[in-house]
Amino acid sequence: MPADSEVFDSHLEAWDEYLTTPWARIRYDVVAHVLDETIAGLCPGPLRVLDLGGGDGVDSIRLAAAGHEVTIVDQAPGMLERARANSARRGCTDRVRTIESDILGWRPDRTYDLVLCHFVLPYLDKGEGQRRMWRLLHQAVEPDGAASVTSTNPVSEVLSAVHRDGDAELALRRFDGQAAYAGMFHHEIHSPRREDVEQTAVAAGFEVTRRIGLRVAVDLLPDGPAKHDPGAYPAILRLEFALAEEKPYLDIARAWQLLLHRLPAQTRSG
Ligand SMILES: C[S@@+](CC[C@H](N)C(=O)[O-])C[C@H]1O[C@@H](n2cnc3c(N)ncnc32)[C@H](O)[C@@H]1O
Repeated sequence: MPADSEVFDSHLEAWDEYLTTPWARIRYDVVAHVLDETIAGLCPGPLRVLDLGGGDGVDSIRLAAAGHEVTIVDQAPGMLERARANSARRGCTDRVRTIESDILGWRPDRTYDLVLCHFVLPYLDKGEGQRRMWRLLHQAVEPDGAASVTSTNPVSEVLSAVHRDGDAELALRRFDGQAAYAGMFHHEIHSPRREDVEQTAVAAGFEVTRRIGLRVAVDLLPDGPAKHDPGAYPAILRLEFALAEEKPYLDIARAWQLLLHRLPAQTRSG
């Protein structure tokens, strides 16, 4: 069952707490670095950025603060309220537009140079929800524009059942695809395999230009003071950057990020 807005707005405190953790910091810092590199390769000048399921806008409001025009579409009013407060704090409200809507029922009013779809796929249903999302991405991204898509990684859900829960039965059930993984919002999520999403992206008219593992090492560090020590963070971040695009490390990360380039219509396959 897809997650409605209440699922997210009723766990805002848990979300705020998550944002203070070293693993959230790693996730946002690595994505920010990758987005900056992507933007450097797109057309010069302020870009039109669309953040689908952008929530409180941690990824995209940073881009608005840097001068880009940002539209955030999300179904959760509480998340969007935080996005507006964040943009006010960063002095860029005039460059941030928030739209409260179910993204699957929303039609873009224009095309965008860069479209973010971060940690939304696991909350959509596997059939029609995913298909509508890819149609939307194809409509929304300008030809020759880029998309950044991220999701939790089902591989890490099997491995964490072993190294964190110490539960081989759970690991086997997750490996067999039977065990539901409940995320921070206490809602069942279905983490798609990166390889499957790559195939869908290609069929939808995109080229995969980069594959990144998010939270490769930080999730394997034993939980304890060393993991939370701010002094240890720079080395953890350097390690994450070193491993993020190297196989086999990227395959076991807690999450993955794909950078996609939208091909002109005539080269679309499938
Ligand atoms: C895990 S949060 C991620 C927020 C943000 N993209 C990030 O990575 O920090 C998932 C967000 O997707 C939104 N969402 C999930 N399904 C949605 C849908 N069908 N329509 C609009 N928003 C949706 C939720 O409201 C929530 O804000």
